[in-house]
Amino acid sequence: MAIERVGVVGCGLMGRGIAQVCARAGHATIVSEINDDLLATGMASIEKFLGKGVEKGKISEEEMQSTLGNLTGTTDLGSFAECDLVIEAATENREMKLEIFRNLDEICGPGAIFGSNTSSLNITELAVSTGRPDRVVGVHFFNPVPLMKLVEVVGTMLVDDSVVEEVKAFGQGLGKVVVVARDRTGFIVNRLLVPYLLDAIRVLDEGLAKMEDIDQAMKLGCGYPMGPFALLDLVGIDTTYYIANIMYEEFREHQFAPPPLLRRMVLAGRHGRKTGRGFYDYSK
Ligand code: CAA
Repeated sequence: MAIERVGVVGCGLMGRGIAQVCARAGHATIVSEINDDLLATGMASIEKFLGKGVEKGKISEEEMQSTLGNLTGTTDLGSFAECDLVIEAATENREMKLEIFRNLDEICGPGAIFGSNTSSLNITELAVSTGRPDRVVGVHFFNPVPLMKLVEVVGTMLVDDSVVEEVKAFGQGLGKVVVVARDRTGFIVNRLLVPYLLDAIRVLDEGLAKMEDIDQAMKLGCGYPMGPFALLDLVGIDTTYYIANIMYEEFREHQFAPPPLLRRMVLAGRHGRKTGRGFYDYSK
């Protein structure tokens, strides 16, 4: 079965990017939010991103219009009834995601595949909350979704191998490079990235060097596109804290323990670019 109609639950930072790349690849795509305001914000941001792409000469005006034409917004999960694949990209909250999966299981046809864009929750738990654990996988995109080339597809011990292959082919059809990982918290990228980001915060707190110098060092010394603090601000300080806690709970290893400064940043409301202030100040 080829995946044609796609549903995306959540039109936040990740959901809007996922919906955009699905629509751009020609899929009839429905994206949902919990209310009209959040939906309007997400849809406006997709239009803005595509508009910038036209300005930069990366896509044509026609491609922008056909992408928008493939995209429908909704506040009703019931609209996902005809979807072949639903990708959940809701807030990283276990209870919320479990409830979404239970609802989707009732709404969608028995052949539909469910994917979760979770960064840190375990896919097996989401899978067994449905009556189709063999059709549930992780489909993990990276921020900013339209620019980042990777997708991790995550299979559990319950998944049907043909579902992994179908989702892999779907990801490649979006123009992404797909890697496959087992269902272990953090998969490949966050398993290696999160300890690095947390260590950057630890050495800053120890006074090893200035934040700007640490960022420069990792950019120029390792050829990374961003230093760890610029990346923390992009990913979200609150999101990183949440992921670190879940990884620490899973592995009980010090490398995943959120450092005190990270917790203080979250409490202080410095959540990164999205709040105008994280390690850097974006208010201007
Ligand atoms: N439409 C189309 N193309 C666009 C565009 C748009 N609106 N905006 C930018 N682009 C293109 C640019 O034209 C450019 O293309 P070329 O290379 O062909 O010139 C490319 O995208 C890069 O854009 P910019 O030059 O504007 O920006 P940049 O060079 O500063 O790169 C970045 C920005 C891609 C974000 C880069 O800094 C980067 O890769 N950073 C690291 C991001 C990262 O690591 N993300 C993963 C975070 S972890 C995660 O997400 C997982 C998790 O679970 C937490």
